[in-house]
Amino acid sequence: MTEHQSPERLQTVADVTPAHRTRPPRLPGDRREKTGSILMVDHAGEYGAARIYAGQLAVIGDRHSHAPLIRHMAAQERRHLETFDRLLLERRARPTLIGPLWHAAGFALGAATALLGPRAAMACTAAVEEEIDRHYGAQLDVLADGSDPELREHIADFRADEAEHRDTALAHDAESTPGYPILSALIRAGCRAAIAVSSRI
Ligand SMILES: [Fe+2]
Ligand SMILES: [Fe+2]
Repeated sequence: MTEHQSPERLQTVADVTPAHRTRPPRLPGDRREKTGSILMVDHAGEYGAARIYAGQLAVIGDRHSHAPLIRHMAAQERRHLETFDRLLLERRARPTLIGPLWHAAGFALGAATALLGPRAAMACTAAVEEEIDRHYGAQLDVLADGSDPELREHIADFRADEAEHRDTALAHDAESTPGYPILSALIRAGCRAAIAVSSRI
């Protein structure tokens, strides 16, 4: 027997067999199916949120009076994203395939609204966070069956931050930006579409 055919060598190969080959197949409706879909869309959403705030800060810069509160919201989004990063790894769930789209679209949305002015940037935040609040509320209802208390706790925690972001934006004249109803409706529709797609692929 050569070195490459030794029992030790075979053991090593078995150890690195990709996890998905050794796991039982997923069945529709099982817990991993549900939490996998939740983690995938929430991870994408938090990534998109972080990119929106990055886009706003790139335009608004550090000296504008809104900069500290946008940085504060961005830091909270990073905490949310890091948690979902960790949960994806721990649960062996996969990220959405349209991550690159979130990367570009999130930054573009943040930058474009900030270019319209600080009130438009706040209108963007209010619209996005309103949709995320609604989305997290629906997930809390789904997880009310006790199937995943840890995930539910994180979502409830983050939802409180998102509601705070929305309220901060509304308190900083989001609704007085010109064309607010149309801008808000467009952004909210975009968020709902992105959420629907990222729950599936
Ligand atoms: Fe968030
Ligand atoms: Fe947020």
